[in-house]
Amino acid sequence: MIQLAPSILSADFSQLGRSVEDIERGGAHLIHVDVMDGHFVPNISFGAAVMKSLLGRSGLPFDVHLMIEAPDRYLEDFMTEQTEYITVHQEACPHLNRTIQHIRSLGAKAGVALNPATSLSTLDYCIEDVDMVLIMSVNPGFGGQKFIPSALDKVRQLRRMADERNPGLKIEIDGGINIDNAKTVTEAGVEILVAGSSVFGTGDPEERVRSFLERIG
Ligand code: DX5
Ligand code: ZN
Repeated sequence: MIQLAPSILSADFSQLGRSVEDIERGGAHLIHVDVMDGHFVPNISFGAAVMKSLLGRSGLPFDVHLMIEAPDRYLEDFMTEQTEYITVHQEACPHLNRTIQHIRSLGAKAGVALNPATSLSTLDYCIEDVDMVLIMSVNPGFGGQKFIPSALDKVRQLRRMADERNPGLKIEIDGGINIDNAKTVTEAGVEILVAGSSVFGTGDPEERVRSFLERIG
């Protein structure tokens, strides 16, 4: 099943509770939570306290994307009864195997994100151990950037690699996803689409989610 994970990074921060209710009514599957520390990426977003303020506001699971250095220090903070995925960046984890085990030991599914210039070969020794790989289709740090086309070939190659070694692996894509390119990325092998500005940027988020789902359905 293809899933849509709207990113609340692009939502109105003064109305986050209402935003998650809106996307839930529209039929979204996950809440993508973009955490930025101003070190790993050149922007600061919000931390676990803001995410936790949304506990119970919807029935949608949290899909936590940690764009932070030393994520191991903060994993427990993001583990809640609503947390489904915790994703760390390969580039931020010198002991990636340990970090993946740590996430799983908390009871979440473990994701690994790769920046646009990071090779799939960095997954050679851990692909069997992860639940999800997030392919960044922009350089992380900001919403509203343009999709980098080389991400498509990366998704296709990852799908082949996963079919051989971890067929249950989910591929997520993040950055510059909109109603026009959604179908192309799912055809390449993506199962979880992150969409920030194209859901929350203009108009009614509930309606935008519905249109997305019609397009990828
Ligand atoms: C980028 C974040 C994304 C971002 C996507 O650093 O990880 O999740 O919010 O935003 P759009 O969909 O606007 O590119
Ligand atoms: Zn993200």
